[in-house]
Amino acid sequence: MITKCCNFRAILKIKEKKLTKISGVGGFVPAEKLTNADLEKMVDTNDEWIRTRTGIVERRILKTPGKATSDLGAEAVKDLLAKTNTDIAEIDLIICATVTPDMFFPSTSNLISHKVGGGEIPSFDIAAACSGFIYALQTGRQFIEAGTYKKVIVVGADKMSAITDYTDRNTCILFGDGAGAVLLEASDDDCGVKDIRIYSNGIGAETLYQKAGGSLNPASMETVKNREHFIYQDGKSVFKVAVKKMADVAAEIMERNNLTGDDVKWLVPHQANKRIIDATARRMNVTEDKVMINIQKYGNTTAATIPLCLWDWQDQLKKGENIVLAAFGGGYTWGGAYIKWAYS
Ligand code: COA
Repeated sequence: MITKCCNFRAILKIKEKKLTKISGVGGFVPAEKLTNADLEKMVDTNDEWIRTRTGIVERRILKTPGKATSDLGAEAVKDLLAKTNTDIAEIDLIICATVTPDMFFPSTSNLISHKVGGGEIPSFDIAAACSGFIYALQTGRQFIEAGTYKKVIVVGADKMSAITDYTDRNTCILFGDGAGAVLLEASDDDCGVKDIRIYSNGIGAETLYQKAGGSLNPASMETVKNREHFIYQDGKSVFKVAVKKMADVAAEIMERNNLTGDDVKWLVPHQANKRIIDATARRMNVTEDKVMINIQKYGNTTAATIPLCLWDWQDQLKKGENIVLAAFGGGYTWGGAYIKWAYS
């Protein structure tokens, strides 16, 4: 009898479990632009090469002295709070995905919280490189679905210019600065985050990384002289894995949720390279008009690319639309998500 009663309660609980919805999007990019023409003056490259190999035309760079990733994130959060008419006092948790923290500690989310008047709100960072936003979304969603918190902010923010070597033509053409933020709340209907898959494999550690500055190679005269505090990337190797894994995880998300290319209204891909995005869309059988692409304007802003796409497209998104997110980045890390958009 007792067992039966418990089972009944467990079933009720499962039925009561609500989805997590994204109820608002905020964003911020610095005003200053770094164009392909500017880069032509800095390294041996040209506009045609950059456009055809990557799809990038210009990026935004945070040049103001004394400003860092937390300032980008704080602006995105302020935009989000204003758009959703939310007081910071209503927020239960802030999570920030970044690979360019202002400093090792305190965390960038602590600093963002302080800059937006968060008081004693709990906050922490997630490091999963270009997949950081999907990792942070998966984390934030757990707090809502468990009923621990009512309102969680997930930020993706990176000041990539701080770790970009502007004498290395292989990498300096790729990256830009920016931040995006979303508000997570419990959904009252079947709209919300339906499914997320995240993966990692440390096999990629030496093909895309910042060699020095951590506990393995602490900063020294030598590491500075050897330019080891900047991004190093073996582009060709990373490209081969990225093009497969990002498409694989997008296809997996579709299969798990019985989605065809026609069912998907928007693909929101990480913006590392237009050719990787195109390959993912082809694999999903999704036509180009349904793919959010803003790489030409911002370049690769790492953890910020996906929320910045949602920010750029927010006026076009309608309640009930099926959206697939897909990302791949350093680590390696990769991930995908299926969201039924929750508002118009
Ligand atoms: N301008 C002109 N020529 C350049 C150049 C530049 N900015 N950068 C590299 N080249 C040259 C190379 O030196 C090479 O010349 P070589 O054949 O004489 O050696 C040639 O162009 C081809 O370089 P390669 O690295 O093979 O180009 P690519 O087609 O692989 O494109 C990337 C380079 C970086 C755009 C591409 O590899 C890439 O997007 N990689 C994955 C990025 C990614 O997804 N990262 C993970 C998430 S952040």
